This record gives sequence, structure tokens and C-alpha cells, in this order.
Amino acid sequence: MVRKYVYGEPFETDAVVQKIETEQGMELEVGRVSLEKGFTFSYQMADEDIVYGLGESNRGLNKRGYCYISNCTDDPNHTEDKRSLYGAHNFIVISGKKNFGLFFDYPAKITFDIGYTRSELLEVSSETADLYLYVIGGESAYDIVKQFRKLIGRSYIPPKFAFGFGQSRWGYKTKEDFQKVAEGYRKNDIPIDMIYMDIDYMQDYKDFTVNEENFPDFTAFVREMRQQGIHLIPIIDAGVKVEKGYSVYEEGVEKGYFCKRENGSEFVAAVWPGDTHFPDVLNKEARKWFGGKYDFLIAQGIEGFWNDMNEPAIFYSREGMDELLATLQKYTKEEVDRIPLEELEKVTGLANSPKDYRSFYHCVDGKRIRHDKVHNLYGYNMTRAAGEAFDELVPNKRLLLFSRSSYIGMHRYGGIWTGDNKSWWSHLLLNLKMMPSLNMCGFLYTGADLGGFGADATRDLVLRWMALGVFTPLMRNHAALGTREQEAYQFEKVEDFRGIIETRYRLLPYLYSEYMKAALRDDMYFKPLAFVYPEDSFAADVEDQVMLGNEVMIAPVYTQNAKGRYVYLPERMMLVKFSKNGEYTKQVLERGHHFVEVALDEVPMFIREGSCIPLVKAARCVEELDTTRPEMIGFEGAEYMLYEDDGITKEYEKEEHYRKLKK
Ligand code: NOJ
Repeated sequence: MVRKYVYGEPFETDAVVQKIETEQGMELEVGRVSLEKGFTFSYQMADEDIVYGLGESNRGLNKRGYCYISNCTDDPNHTEDKRSLYGAHNFIVISGKKNFGLFFDYPAKITFDIGYTRSELLEVSSETADLYLYVIGGESAYDIVKQFRKLIGRSYIPPKFAFGFGQSRWGYKTKEDFQKVAEGYRKNDIPIDMIYMDIDYMQDYKDFTVNEENFPDFTAFVREMRQQGIHLIPIIDAGVKVEKGYSVYEEGVEKGYFCKRENGSEFVAAVWPGDTHFPDVLNKEARKWFGGKYDFLIAQGIEGFWNDMNEPAIFYSREGMDELLATLQKYTKEEVDRIPLEELEKVTGLANSPKDYRSFYHCVDGKRIRHDKVHNLYGYNMTRAAGEAFDELVPNKRLLLFSRSSYIGMHRYGGIWTGDNKSWWSHLLLNLKMMPSLNMCGFLYTGADLGGFGADATRDLVLRWMALGVFTPLMRNHAALGTREQEAYQFEKVEDFRGIIETRYRLLPYLYSEYMKAALRDDMYFKPLAFVYPEDSFAADVEDQVMLGNEVMIAPVYTQNAKGRYVYLPERMMLVKFSKNGEYTKQVLERGHHFVEVALDEVPMFIREGSCIPLVKAARCVEELDTTRPEMIGFEGAEYMLYEDDGITKEYEKEEHYRKLKK
């Protein structure tokens, strides 16, 4: 039961794929709308109401008690006070006295005050009142999410190799750097399927170029890595370097495909390469043109990409810098100590400045649209550019694609990673809490930078975080330039890391199968416990355990020096603890609270009563896994329906992909 209300003249975001008749309304069956000052939706929450949703956002699974702002932002400091991260996922579900879902299809900044200003008041507001509001009724939060997922269309399905483990680090530069990483894994017998190429593979940070000195024969190098079972996954940034003679730049200017200032000249934003222009990916022709550029790398054997800096991030604009320089030039050397603070703040205010986002334009179907009015659609459309191009370039082949910035709708074209977290224990927990919320909004292929991106990681943090990463569809260890090296082979007792990554590969047929079922049925891969046990009042409060697929619950350890953790079992379950050398222990635990010991080299997992799952032998990469006769673990007499396809083509819906397995 979905109703679609229209206010003003909304921008068509293409987030929703189902056609629904629009209505106009102020007094809705739940809550009310006011257009007095922009747009405001308000609803009086009952004590028992839980609010789910908002995808990639800060804090808990239950979003009550804070204020969140959908405003895609490049901010690497995800402290608890932050209101905006990289994504804009404007879907929430109120679950309690009444159950309903709300999707605010609005591409500019929108605020979700969920009991922050007044504890019982839910207020969603935006500056202008041009939007669609979808109100979804249903029996339960889970039911509402499933309806919403149908509304927005099938989630992106990556190739199967993308379920393997990937290593990344900002700073790998030369062919030799990548060979060293491959060797680090292969020599230590640690499985790996992907090594990510950060900006240094490019020539002067120019998109769709490869530094020829560092990679004299790139195609041959891509092939050499493939022979070792490794896919190289290059990064693509939003900004195109301004440089005479660089074909992407020259072509974009000639065709008028970059975002423009009010006076019609190309907007200049400084990012990694220095001055850049932003491709106008909201313009259909420009999107097609930019997407087509990925072929430069596909033709050289590349099968996956990550799209970055696409909020779009701006270090400074030409105008911003000119203004700052003019300000500083007003002062002589003797006056430095007298520069007013607000003038000095112009330095930190240079990056991602709202003023800059108001100063450039898109051209959509012949109409000029100021960027800030559609800001949250940029990363979405950059990724859509790639996804649409892949469909034409390699129609029946899946490519790996994920993005940093996103809006609902992008989930059909690619996955996301959750951006620049830190090597903090609190971010391990945040990673876990975000996963079900992301699934609610359609983002199934997701994961965080394991081990943490910024700050120095410790061995125990990397181990514990990878033990969570075993279960996230995107399992990638990534770190920032200048931080402590955190590849699995950098620490003592490498066998502990091997054991954890091998566990991922042992479980891979199951994890892949559950991912595919979730994607094909518009369902969730990660669910809050309350979605599975709606009658259980303890389950409603659990935020540090999640259900995975239909058979499993996970409860990672997320505190330092802990010997284990407390776990709540909403039903009888089998605790399985995987450790190195393919070993594991199992123990059936009754419903209730338990302290579960988990050593640093172990991966805990719980199998639900009456269920079983397949387990295979680890291999060095996904394509070498032997899935013909899996061992089954779980409860005697249980059955499992395994989904297995070639993992490459798009012929998903075949009966032969399903195989019944028995314990
Ligand atoms: C920002 C991204 O979030 C990060 O993952 C990447 O390493 C840097 N950009 C450099 O490209």
C-alpha cells in the first residue's frame, strides 16, 4: 500500500521505478505537512516507536534522538556529532504504535529531526517544497521495507569475484608496489581476489589515464595479475583535470559537457589534480559520454571500478581562493596577529563550501539547474553513467562498481563503501549498525574500510574488524596515505589473518547465495533482529548483532582487549567459532543472554534452530572454490537451498541455479 504525494515541482530523480498515481495532500493518514516555510512533515511519535532507515548515516540502527541531514559531504571525521555523511538516503520507517514508511524524494538538503528538538516529535524539513513524498503502509517494518524495495527496483548485482577479499591502500604507485601486495598474500597463502588501485596509478591524477612509466604495458600487467587470480580495481574521480591536450578535458569543453558557472564558463574546482571540471552527469548526453570513457580501462582487461570524490568534493574553487587571497593581502606582516577569526576561518571554509555548490549549474533536458538544488544526485549519476555504459559495452557481463556518494536509485547501478572511517573501535560498531539501514534503502553491496582508513590501526583491531568483514558483501581492507601499514601480512602471526580470510572463502557459497536471494527478491541481506523476531521485546533493542540471510546471526567483538562478548539469542542457536587451519567448534546455546568467549583469531557465527549452511574448503580466489560437495553445518535434518550461478553473466533467473542441500 503506497501513496505518492506531490508538492510543488519536483525534480525527477529516477529513484523510484514503479509508476504510481500522484495525489495532493496536507493531512495525511499519518502526520501532517506544512508548506508555510519550505516543506515540513511532522508526526507525533509514541513512546514505543522505533525509527529505522536513513541508510548510510551516523549513530544507531534506531535513529531516534538525533538530527540527521541528507547533504552528501566529503567529511573524513565521522564523529558522533556529525549529521551528514557521503550519502543521502531519505527513507525512514516508523515502527510501533503505527507502522509506516516515508520516502522523501528530494535531491537537495533535507533535515530529519527525529526527536532531537522535542523528544516525541519527528520533523522532516527542507528549504523548498518541491518533492514527492511516498507513504508506505504495512503490517510491520520489515513488510514496509520490502514494499519500498520493490518501489525502487532491483539492487545491483556484482560479479562473484567481488565477494572475495580485496586489499587497498592509498599510496600504491608502481607495478612493483602492486606485485609486492600480491606476493604478500600469495606467499603467505592468504586468499585474495582484488587489489584496488587508488589515484596514484593515473598520470597526474587524470581520469582514464595510466602512468606509463610505472606501468609500461598495463594490459599485460592486468593479465599477469589475473593469472594469479587477482583483479585490479582502479579508482575514478569525479573531477576531470584541466589540462590542454588531455583528451577528456578537451572533448568535455568542446561538447559543453562540464558544469558551468552562471556566465556560461566552466566551473573550476581544485581536487587532487589541481584545477578540474565536473562532468555534468545529470545531463543525459554528458552522462553517456563520461560513462563511455570507462572503456579505456575495460579494453585493457579491467573488470571493476570504484567512483570517488563524487559528492562532489571540492578542496577550493577559483572564486573561493581568490577571495581568500584578497582577504589575506589586506594585512601586512605586522598585522598578522590582528586578523579577525572570521577571516581566518575562510581558510578552513574553502573546502566543500555551500557557496560554491550554489555557483555552478547542470543542464537537464535543456533546463539550467543550480547544483545545490540537486546536490545529492551527483555521485548517483556519476555511478549511473558507468553502470549505463557497462550495459552497452559489455551487455551480458557483470562488472564490479561502487561509489562513495549516493542517493537512493543508485543502488540499481552499483554498491557503496562507507568512506573515510578511522582505525577506531567505535567505527567497527558503526560499520555493523549501518549495514541493515543500508539494506533498507536498497544498498546491498556495501562494506567499510576494514581496519579503518584514517589513523593507525592495531593488530587486534584489524583482526576483529576483518572478522566482521567476513560477512559484509564488500570485504576490503583499505588505509590512508601515511598511516600504519595494515595489510594482513604486515603483522605478527600471519596465520591468524589467514584463518579469518579463509573463513570468508569457506562461507562464500552461502554468503553469495544469500546475497543473490536478497537481490532477486528485493529483500535484505542484513536485517535487524526485530525484523525476524517482532514479538521479542529484547530483540527490538539489540543494535550490536544482526541477522544475515535467513539462517545466520552475527555478533562481532568490537571492544579492545575483550575476551568475548555478551550475546542475546532470540531462539536456540548453534554457535560456530571458526579458527585457523579450517578448524571450527560448535555448541548449541539456548535462547537468552550468554557470554561468548571469542579469541582474536576466531570468527563467531550463530546458526538458527532448524537450519544448516554449506561450508567449503578455502581456495586462493573465488573462481577456484570447489562447491560440488559442500560440508553442511547446523542442525541435523535441516535443508538449505543454495543459489549458485556462473557469477559472471546476468542470467540470474534460472531454476537450475537452485540446489537443495541436506544436513
Ligand atoms: C578519498 C577516498 O575516500 C579514499 O578512499 C581514497 O583513498 C582517497 N580519496 C584518495 O583517492
